[in-house]
Amino acid sequence: MSTAPILSSVPVDAAVPRHVAIIMDGNGRWAKARHLPRVAGHKAGVEAVRRVTRAARAMGVEALTLYAFSSENWRRPEDEVGALMGLLRLFIRSDLAELVEENVRLRVIGDYRRFAPDLVALVDDAMAKTAHNSGPILVIALNYGSQAELVAATRRLAARAAAGEIDAAAITADDIEAELDTAALPPLDLVIRSSGEQRLSNFLLWQAAYAELLFVDTLWPDFTADTLAEAIAAFGQRQRRYGGL
Ligand code: FPP
Repeated sequence: MSTAPILSSVPVDAAVPRHVAIIMDGNGRWAKARHLPRVAGHKAGVEAVRRVTRAARAMGVEALTLYAFSSENWRRPEDEVGALMGLLRLFIRSDLAELVEENVRLRVIGDYRRFAPDLVALVDDAMAKTAHNSGPILVIALNYGSQAELVAATRRLAARAAAGEIDAAAITADDIEAELDTAALPPLDLVIRSSGEQRLSNFLLWQAAYAELLFVDTLWPDFTADTLAEAIAAFGQRQRRYGGL
């Protein structure tokens, strides 16, 4: 593991977000600019994942959620979907030891059980091996879509109401939150999207209700510890009012 200093130029602001989520966009454009196949962009994107997860830990971020595969990404060509799955396998196999050593808890949001059985087993094993860690949480969104997550939560609550276990008229926001894949994670403070696109793309729609949104032009493979530090510094300048004055 690299022992090089993680931060170089930007001082860490005292106001560190507890939970940061990142829409890692721009791998394809990064590759295209270099006349490389799209998968080369995704490979470089995995390197950025390593840099940024290490940097987030060093900066004291409690939870980092990464949008690795959306429920809409199945629409991509089969070979690209296969390559993304391959990279996920490789990442878990090669980085699990570091996550265990660094006391990181790995969690997954999304319907990852639709993936190939060996990948599901790999993910389950990685979560089990880190479940008793007490440090920062790395959340990977796999086959995740916010609307599907809310539909599933609604169905579970509706079934419990129909069974007479709960009173439908008394359902609260907390009850809904407890049914989401993100239950028990710290509240979401900051959503970052790379590559200049400015949308949430079905990512953490409920959880982002009061999160700060930051759109950076950097393509994901070029995202560094400094890009994260700059984002966190920008977060520190925001005034969060949660609807108040
Ligand atoms: C968006 O870029 C990126 C993705 C759909 C995949 C993100 C996946 C990784 C970075 C690798 C696997 C992740 C882990 C956690 C090991 P794009 O392809 O849509 O870029 P474009 O908009 O420039 O085409």
